[in-house]
Amino acid sequence: MFRNFNKWCLGALTLLFLAGTFNASAQGEDLFKAKCATCHQVFKDGTGPKLYEVRAKWDEGGAAEGSIIQWVNNWEAAAASDPYAASVVATKPTNMNKFPDLTSEQIVSIFDWIDSQVEDDGSGGAAVAEAGGTVNEEESSTGWIWIVLGVVFIVIILAVGGVRRQLKSATAEVDGKEFDDSMSYSDEIKQWAWANRKFVAIGAVFTVLSLVVILFLGLYSINIMENYQPSQPIEFPHSIHAGINGIDCKYCHNSVDKSKTAGLPTVNVCMNCHKQITGSGEQVAKIEKIYEAAGWDPVDMKYTNETQEIVWNKVHVLPDHVYFNHSQHVTVGGVDCKQCHGDMTTMSETAKVMSVEELNKVEGNIPLTKKTLTMGWCIECHQEKEVSMGSLDTKGDGYYNEIHRRLLNNDKSLYGDYLKDGKVSVKELGGWECAKCHY
Ligand code: HEC
Ligand code: HEC
Ligand code: HEC
Ligand code: HEC
Ligand code: HEC
Ligand code: HEC
Repeated sequence: MFRNFNKWCLGALTLLFLAGTFNASAQGEDLFKAKCATCHQVFKDGTGPKLYEVRAKWDEGGAAEGSIIQWVNNWEAAAASDPYAASVVATKPTNMNKFPDLTSEQIVSIFDWIDSQVEDDGSGGAAVAEAGGTVNEEESSTGWIWIVLGVVFIVIILAVGGVRRQLKSATAEVDGKEFDDSMSYSDEIKQWAWANRKFVAIGAVFTVLSLVVILFLGLYSINIMENYQPSQPIEFPHSIHAGINGIDCKYCHNSVDKSKTAGLPTVNVCMNCHKQITGSGEQVAKIEKIYEAAGWDPVDMKYTNETQEIVWNKVHVLPDHVYFNHSQHVTVGGVDCKQCHGDMTTMSETAKVMSVEELNKVEGNIPLTKKTLTMGWCIECHQEKEVSMGSLDTKGDGYYNEIHRRLLNNDKSLYGDYLKDGKVSVKELGGWECAKCHY
């Protein structure tokens, strides 16, 4: 067994080494994580469908050659020319971003990397590494630690098993008894487990608890969204509009205070100003794209009626199973846009998902620790953020008046508990209930 032990170790090391070098399509991996992982996972459906062996699926479904490449560049164009691509659009309400800048080689490298992935067997560690296709080195290395630990553990069990057997047969010989070599490993393990059942029970509970903790840490910290900044059809700078020219956010995101979504401006909104403002220098080419979309001839100063829609790529993307409502936060909760989106008045590039470090630098923001747009981020703020209770004398015109009245009339002790830390938090009014955020 000890001679074998060396072989085992060598084998395990070789496996690890091979797995490491299989990282060949690094470009595909980087691109996937930067551009696709906000919506897609390799083996699991999320906002977008899982992508493992999706090329094969398209081939079998009868998609036209090269159609899937075109889909990634511009799904709308692909859907217009290929019936199979069109059938993919219909299956989900959320549309995919467009990536006109990716070359076919880059897209192929993404699919190559995806198809080279190996599905994890359900053991906690690997799931954490895979779930988000994480950008973060730290997180993928924790995946490795678990694999290494697992291998070491198995080797130790086998080694100990072997040593025990040898010792047993040796002692059996000394005692002059026949050693029952027919007893299988599993029987031996069962016998040993029964003899040490307290230890085994504690071990089992411990293992399950650790898995739960790992999973939850995963939900809290996996981040695929921070710093996500997709390319946009027009290089629109917030700094010039909301900053220098002081245009109110609501002028362009006009449903943000009264509905679930904030909304994006149509080209007509741009034209309110840009009919006159043609820009100078480098700006001219950018602003001309507005004219193309609006069907405006800037020389003759009239509409040509040849319009085309500007399709802005989504920057902030939550999975479909999460419910988030802007008016509830902005109007009822009184949370400033800055708290979640950073100071957009200074943003000179197109919008991106600000990292939590960046958000914490903004004056007046509640400092948070969990990464932006993760579940931990929502939950942490719901614990920190105070809710201002509505007035008691106005009947029903404030969201919290009724809750406030009920708390005072029925359950003063509960209210007292809430107020122990001097405030009523969103959490205390139900902001941690799964069903509030999950469909
Ligand atoms: C903003 C979210 C989003 C991003 C980012 C995104 N996708 Fe998608 N993708 C979707 C959605 C949603 C669908 C389902 C079809 C639809 O409604 O448009 C989809 C569908 C697909 C399909 C077809 C899947 C099938 O089962 O037939 C492929 C292939 C695909 N995406 C590849 C990519 C690649 C490659 C990237 C990165 C370069 C990417 N997507 C980035 C949301 C996204
Ligand atoms: C003149 C119109 C205009 C004004 C004013 C404006 N925005 Fe925008 N906003 C846009 C356009 C166009 C986009 C899409 C391009 C992009 O993502 O950069 C956008 C995108 C965004 C996004 C990202 C959307 C996504 O897909 O997730 C956020 C967040 C945002 N704006 C916040 C703000 C805030 C906060 C303000 C006020 C400080 C503001 N905007 C003012 C036009 C405007
Ligand atoms: C309320 C007026 C107003 C609206 C509405 C408006 N803009 Fe502008 N925009 C301006 C002004 C002012 C400038 C600065 C022009 C200059 O520097 O000469 C500008 C500049 C720009 C530039 C040049 C940026 C650069 O790189 O310097 C782009 C691109 C642009 N706007 C796009 C848009 C788009 C797209 C929309 C619609 C979503 C829009 N604008 C809506 C007033 C507006
Ligand atoms: C409590 C955090 C929070 C606050 C406050 C907030 N947003 Fe958002 N915003 C989000 C989240 C989360 C999303 C992604 C929503 C989704 O994918 O369903 C988003 C998405 C957006 C989008 C993309 C379009 C859409 O509706 O999904 C725009 C534009 C936007 N926000 C603008 C604003 C503006 C302007 C304000 C301030 C008036 C604001 N937001 C305040 C969290 C916030
Ligand atoms: C910066 C702080 C902050 C962040 C981040 C935040 N919220 Fe909230 N949320 C609030 C406040 C304040 C309220 C209270 C307003 C209310 O209850 O209507 C609230 C209320 C809610 C409610 C209603 C709860 C109830 O009791 O009716 C839901 C649902 C919700 N948030 C979902 C989300 C989701 C999903 C996210 C993450 C994507 C999120 N929130 C992120 C501050 C935040
Ligand atoms: C304040 C809002 C909020 C509450 C309350 C909340 N969640 Fe979430 N949850 C989210 C958001 C946002 C995400 C998506 C995060 C991401 O994709 O990184 C999420 C993701 C998840 C996921 C991961 C799904 C996946 O796609 O991998 C699970 C599982 C989950 N939540 C379970 C729960 C359970 C169980 C509860 C109740 C104990 C709960 N959530 C309460 C906001 C919330």
